[in-house]
Amino acid sequence: MKDILTAPFLIEMVRTATNMYAHGWDERNGGNISLMLSEDEVKEYGDVKRVLRTIPTGFSAPDLDGKYFLVTGTGKYFKNVQYAPDVNLGLVKLIDGGTNAQLLWGFTDGGKFTSEFPAHMMSHAARLKVNPANRVVMHCHPTNLLAMTYVHTLDEKAFTRTLWQMCTECIVVFPDGVNVLPWMLCGTNEIGEATAEKMKTARLVVWAQHGLYGAGVDLDEAFGLIETAEKAAEIYMKIAHLPLVNTITDEEMHLLEGRFGVKAREGYLS
Ligand code: 13P
Ligand code: ZN
Repeated sequence: MKDILTAPFLIEMVRTATNMYAHGWDERNGGNISLMLSEDEVKEYGDVKRVLRTIPTGFSAPDLDGKYFLVTGTGKYFKNVQYAPDVNLGLVKLIDGGTNAQLLWGFTDGGKFTSEFPAHMMSHAARLKVNPANRVVMHCHPTNLLAMTYVHTLDEKAFTRTLWQMCTECIVVFPDGVNVLPWMLCGTNEIGEATAEKMKTARLVVWAQHGLYGAGVDLDEAFGLIETAEKAAEIYMKIAHLPLVNTITDEEMHLLEGRFGVKAREGYLS
């Protein structure tokens, strides 16, 4: 049996958490990541039958029954993941229709998965229906996107169009746009259900005055989506108080669609 600390998925998870912290998106215990793994990937590195603990999830997710997830722990600091992955991360298998999670590795201090586990698992279920290759859900608190939710309308079309107009490549990276939830109590099944509903039509979901969710086929894609949207929000926050002289027109957006073979969200361009 190989050492799980040498597994490419674990190394990539540690690097991603470290990088997110370095970007300033994950102060203290802010943010959480879940990465879906196959049994084949997992069993190379550990006994998938040896259950350390069974942890109730507080929700059901029948579509994810039997699935494996590497996930960050609640209250854990992204800054520390690289120094103690076995404390700050856990590998779980969902059972009993997703109502329980078997801990197979990690959370060695007695900890458990993120308090945002409902939003993560419900978002995985939603994204898998759109794209069966989806593997990652990522949540963080990027400064400029968060700032933007205080000064910009939360209308999804307007929010998306503003971000698209801030950098030429935004529409190429997230042609599906960003969906937006109003402020809601975090860590609940309710915000989980609302996030998953929004994940049906976009891979980015803003939580107003809180942060952002991104989903992708791998850690790079989810990270890249967040990085691009956050860059656009940074530019918005630099220019929002200044007279706007130029922008990217809808006509130019259509040229980008053609050049990069993407299709902007229906009805979002004139
Ligand atoms: P956790 O420490 O439970 O992962 O929560 C962090 C967070 O960002 C809550 O939204
Ligand atoms: Zn958060």
